[in-house]
Amino acid sequence: MHSPLLLVLYPLNYHIISYGCQMNEYDSARLAALLELQGWLPVENAEKADMILVNTCSVRAKAEENAIARIRDLKKLKVESGELRVGVLGCMAKNRGESLLKDLPFIDFILGPDEYHKLSEIIHSPLSTLHSPLNPFAKLANNYSAFVAIQSGCNMRCSYCIVPYVRGRERYREAESILREIEVAAAQGVSEVTLLGQTVNGYRYKGLSFAGLLRMVADVKGIERIRFMSPHPKHYTGELLEILLCETKIAPHVHLPVQSGSNSILKKMKRQYSRENYLSIVEALRSFNPLYGITTDIICGYPGETEEEFEETLSLLREAQFDSAFMFAYSPREGTPSALEEELITEDEKKARLQKTIDLQHAITLERARLMVGRTEKILLEKPSRRNPNEWVGKTGNFKKVIVDYSGSAAGTYVNCTIEAVKGHTLCGKIND
Ligand code: 5AD
Ligand code: SF4
Repeated sequence: MHSPLLLVLYPLNYHIISYGCQMNEYDSARLAALLELQGWLPVENAEKADMILVNTCSVRAKAEENAIARIRDLKKLKVESGELRVGVLGCMAKNRGESLLKDLPFIDFILGPDEYHKLSEIIHSPLSTLHSPLNPFAKLANNYSAFVAIQSGCNMRCSYCIVPYVRGRERYREAESILREIEVAAAQGVSEVTLLGQTVNGYRYKGLSFAGLLRMVADVKGIERIRFMSPHPKHYTGELLEILLCETKIAPHVHLPVQSGSNSILKKMKRQYSRENYLSIVEALRSFNPLYGITTDIICGYPGETEEEFEETLSLLREAQFDSAFMFAYSPREGTPSALEEELITEDEKKARLQKTIDLQHAITLERARLMVGRTEKILLEKPSRRNPNEWVGKTGNFKKVIVDYSGSAAGTYVNCTIEAVKGHTLCGKIND
């Protein structure tokens, strides 16, 4: 397509549109870093790009529909500029494959999650493979916080989930390569690192467990806050709980998807834990620190979910007191076992259950936020608020957003602040002198 020589004379511009999970954001940031190594420049405005990459998600029908609508929109840019290349990446590229090219023939190339190294052939320059230890870390639009993938794929077979089909079996990255990436990032000023994987706490490598890896990451000079997502309740070992509670660099927050509060639904979903197993993890974390942040994912209206089973999800929300939750109506995905089950619940009923769940969780989220008032918290300043440049947004260790008055420009700085009030779901604080 474009020769490297031409690139030196006229830098080419790329624009990435990313949908879906953190893993996609991570892949997008890594692809961006690799393109930049080759002299490509990012542009905010898609109209100015020579290449547009759309990184897609397939986890629910809506996610695919959004991406398809956006890709369809790009056709007019292609018509205006004969030079523009459009690439579709990620789970939908894998899931729909050739049929995507048939429906949207102006797409230049599609690459599934395991094929990103092929971008090098496409742009005709020698990109190294994505998991080479020498690759730049994913900066995610700032230089104090980095995502680092430690595992890809998923060996679980949750009955509703398309991820194992599009991302394949679990693979674990070599610990040496992970640690080198984090050391390089830390030397460049990164202090917060988020380890990523579909079932991140199932990580293992040459006798090293996830808990062991966490210990090694905590030893990297310059790393002050460690996060990870998403763990699976099945992989909460005693060893893991111990390090979560003892190692102060590991932020006191976990995003732990529960999906349902009903044992019979959990069984149908093949989640491999019970309501009681799940609540015992919550209990362990919260008895150590009542303000431990716990967030989750919930699916409402799984095929055959009875009113009683749904009520058990509501009662689990009350019991677990989640700090927040992503809540979804069940969406059948072709090729998954649950898509074969008859959906007896109407769309309206599914929506009604989802709304009840959202209403209850919002009330709980507010209560959890109110518990923070009066406390002193160390927050990481992220960016000025959109409304007022003298107000900044920061995050507490337990993953709550705090707005503080701040007129400096030091994103990535830790400050101590006192939480004074809750506005909406956001905390308002004052920086301590
Ligand atoms: N329908 C609805 N929600 C789903 N999720 C995954 N698959 C489906 C589906 N078929 C949700 C789960 C998961 C999150 C990433 O997306 O809650 O944790
Ligand atoms: Fe999907 Fe289950 Fe794997 Fe999560 S653990 S990615 S829900 S199959």
